[in-house]
Amino acid sequence: MDALGKLYTSTAIVTVNVEGKLNGITVAWVTRVSWQPPMVAVSIGKTRYTRELMDRTDSFAVCILGKDAKEIAEYFGTVSGRNTDKFKKYPYTMSEGNLPIPEGTIAYIECDKTGQFEAGDHIVYIGTVRRQKVLKDEPPLIFGEHELL
Ligand SMILES: Cc1cc2nc3c(=O)[nH]c(=O)nc-3n(C[C@H](O)[C@H](O)[C@H](O)COP(=O)(O)O)c2cc1C
Repeated sequence: MDALGKLYTSTAIVTVNVEGKLNGITVAWVTRVSWQPPMVAVSIGKTRYTRELMDRTDSFAVCILGKDAKEIAEYFGTVSGRNTDKFKKYPYTMSEGNLPIPEGTIAYIECDKTGQFEAGDHIVYIGTVRRQKVLKDEPPLIFGEHELL
């Protein structure tokens, strides 16, 4: 048994659009961090391709997945955008802020990247919420006990 496994979170795909290059990464390490203004934090591994793209953009979207989106969560969470266009495999729409919203998203939060800091082998990016939208009023896909539940 592992105490860290008891930290349950919503599973999300964080998406970016860097000069037309779209990418998304499945994240379990995502949470709200400020009430006013509303802010969120996402933790991205230093070696991830998304980390390179995050460092070249001022905005990102946190796309919260629904319970039926296990397959897409695993795909975006195992394949790297470095050599694959992940958005070719699954349908998506573009948000008002020109960020990709993948199939399986029940709600998304568009953020301005307003901070970042190092945390061990990850970078924590802080996003100030610019726009948010609920697409389906359903419970999210949960990550807990080190797996998708
Ligand atoms: C359920 C699940 C949760 C994940 N959570 C995170 C996370 O919070 N942060 C992270 O950096 N990687 C996380 N990953 C791993 C990345 O999604 C994975 O390495 C991905 O392929 C990186 O894509 P990229 O190279 O296109 O950025 C998770 C993977 C899965 C399957």
